[in-house]
Amino acid sequence: MSAIVVKNLSYYVPEKKILHDVSFEVEAGEILSIMGPSGSGKTTLLKLLTGLLVPTSGEIWIDGENIANMSETQLDQARLKMGLVFQYAALFDSLNVYDNIVFSVTRHKKRTSRAELDNIVRDRLDQVGLGEVEWLYPSQLSGGMQKRVGLARALAMNPAFIFYDEPTSGLDPLSAHNIDTLIQNTGRSLQVTSVVVSHHLPSIFRISDRVAMISEGELIAIDLPEHIRDSKNNIVRAFLEPERSARNDTF
Ligand SMILES: Nc1ncnc2c1ncn2[C@@H]1O[C@H](COP(=O)(O)OP(=O)(O)O)[C@@H](O)[C@H]1O
Ligand SMILES: [Mg+2]
Repeated sequence: MSAIVVKNLSYYVPEKKILHDVSFEVEAGEILSIMGPSGSGKTTLLKLLTGLLVPTSGEIWIDGENIANMSETQLDQARLKMGLVFQYAALFDSLNVYDNIVFSVTRHKKRTSRAELDNIVRDRLDQVGLGEVEWLYPSQLSGGMQKRVGLARALAMNPAFIFYDEPTSGLDPLSAHNIDTLIQNTGRSLQVTSVVVSHHLPSIFRISDRVAMISEGELIAIDLPEHIRDSKNNIVRAFLEPERSARNDTF
């Protein structure tokens, strides 16, 4: 069985089918990007995959367990395997970098010693290429550094899965490129299974093993990046058009 199996997943609210009959699989260690315009349902899909929302119908198998019908206690346990990197990093403003990184560790492993916590913070900051920033507060960091701390926090519990919501949005091209490299290295060196939700085309094609597209709540394509680039699907082609013209521009 694949690391993630999503079967006929739907999420409806009274006035709208936000996601409809979505099915796909992600292999262990793979980086799958899911692209789509704003409002297509990307964030909703990530919230469903991480158990923050309960689906209307369908199955979500993570590491052999269907999280779609788990109790809150079971979900809490299942979430230990998952790191979530939110859009805009979503750090706790009132906590310094150290306390942001160890937040879920202290919550789940109450008797972790100070020395162990120090090690986790040092390790994760190293992994994301940050120096001695543990005593700084989020407001004292640049956007790119905040995203790195967000990733360090997601890595704190050694997750087998990482879910990224728009990891490069709001970053300048160089910082975006650095975050892309970090996502790739994290996937490769730590053998993490990664799902990246994004509408930033250069990043998507740089980092992904496979690319999916979601449009108006439906998954309309999933394939190797080169096949997605050559897709005959009109919606996919239209979405990729800006990227195509940018590549043909001569500077
Ligand atoms: N709880 C909700 N109630 C009603 N509409 C919602 C709710 N959550 C999201 N939506 C709508 O669902 C659609 C998909 O939202 P979202 O998943 O945030 O899209 P994306 O992340 O791709 O921009 C949007 O039209 C949004 O306004
Ligand atoms: Mg979103």
